[in-house]
Amino acid sequence: MEFSLSNQLVQHFDGDCSVVFAFDDSNNKDLNIQELVELNNFDAKAGNTMTLNNVAGFKTSITIVLGLSDMPVTAKNYQKALRSLASKLKELKVMSVMIEQVSVDGLDKSWTYSTTARVMQNETYLVNKVGVSNDKEVLIENIAIQSGESNAHDLSIGLATANGMAVARKLGDLPSNICTPNYLAETAKSLAGDFNLDCEILEDKDMEKLGMYSLLSVAKGSIEPPKLITLSYKGNGESKPIVLIGKGVTFDSGGISLKPGAGMDEMKYDMCGAASVLGTMRAIAEMKAKVNLTVVVPAVENMPAHNASKPGDVVKSMSGQTIEILNTDAEGRLILCDALTYVERFNPEVVIDTATLTGAVIVALGKHHCGVMANDQELANDLIIAGNTALDSAWQLPLDDEYDELLKSNFADMANIGGREAGTVTAACFLSRFAKKYRWAHLDIAGTAWVSGKSKGATGRPVPLLTQYILDKI
Ligand code: BES
Ligand code: MN
Ligand code: ZN
Repeated sequence: MEFSLSNQLVQHFDGDCSVVFAFDDSNNKDLNIQELVELNNFDAKAGNTMTLNNVAGFKTSITIVLGLSDMPVTAKNYQKALRSLASKLKELKVMSVMIEQVSVDGLDKSWTYSTTARVMQNETYLVNKVGVSNDKEVLIENIAIQSGESNAHDLSIGLATANGMAVARKLGDLPSNICTPNYLAETAKSLAGDFNLDCEILEDKDMEKLGMYSLLSVAKGSIEPPKLITLSYKGNGESKPIVLIGKGVTFDSGGISLKPGAGMDEMKYDMCGAASVLGTMRAIAEMKAKVNLTVVVPAVENMPAHNASKPGDVVKSMSGQTIEILNTDAEGRLILCDALTYVERFNPEVVIDTATLTGAVIVALGKHHCGVMANDQELANDLIIAGNTALDSAWQLPLDDEYDELLKSNFADMANIGGREAGTVTAACFLSRFAKKYRWAHLDIAGTAWVSGKSKGATGRPVPLLTQYILDKI
């Protein structure tokens, strides 16, 4: 799909389809549009569409009137409208389309262009079915946006972000018998080849030498060997890198603390943190952003077996702190803690981990916001702002010492669970004990990384948030 800016009027566009916007309360500036709206009794609620043929004054045979509710247009309504436009265009098998110019409340044209490209590209993403080719699908070829400008830079930012989301969605949706720790490592290697990145893969022997016994304690119950993946992009000389860590549990059975059977298939999504940092790397590298970025993925499978960790086992982490594993299903923190110690060697500007860490975050925030917790308030603020800009929002939860006390163990420096209350916060408290040497934030994406039910599938979140955060830093 190609995006472009065009200084033509939509009325003069001679492709397949023209898109014009309509507003509530007879707000339509264009009297012809107002007439069409009234004539057809169109309700201009955001996301409503009306498809018309051979409208006088338009060159295209199809004209879509797209509702945007009230003026001024909110960012959320604009996104809603684009989403339904994308599904309409797919339904009509339109190949080329031009969208009328519109301004969104409080946001500049750059935002509108990059958001349009990102949302349209992401909404036309083809979900991969294992062993079935997508080649025959009809795809939109050209999307033009009406504009007085010609600089397509913003469009390429949006497109690169959507391409990063596609990496995350594809990896997330793959079943765990294909997407193993080794598959994640191979994916990282091929990204390194495509975008000229440095890639290093550590094997279990290497991790043993480093003393990563917490991470290894999760991996040992599985036949799949663990991998510690590092990808580095250098776009800004010798400056300190932003470091992203992504939880890469390619299947979380719970281990000996086995999960119940219902919905267990969704635990193939327990590597969506890993998928999101690989996707963000692709986005940033494709944009050739002026930043140094390192992403680290601890990748394991969590399985029950005769040699799996058992509740009550005590392990020593790379940091030297010991952990009593009271529940083998709280495995994400056990792999992340060693990754958090490992990244000290990169002298990071900031470290952000993203993880499908707790079911409790879904209870607290549902599926709209991801949870953010940080040892630095400015960093938390920056992530929340980036999430709002990118329509990939985050909501902060606290990290007070009172919660940390719940991790007390009689037999080690800490336990890996804190009890029933505030599960998302105690998980983050656990991680914070390994992130004392730098500015750090944690995104709990258990509620936002995929959707369940009829349209089950990975969302590509939080690639937009992370990419926006990095762009805001430059
Ligand atoms: N991967 C899960 C978290 C999860 C659960 C994500 C459901 C999405 C949906 C994580 O490893 C886990 O099992 N967490 C436990 C922690 C508990 C044992 C303290 C949980 O949330 O139940
Ligand atoms: Mn688990
Ligand atoms: Zn898990």
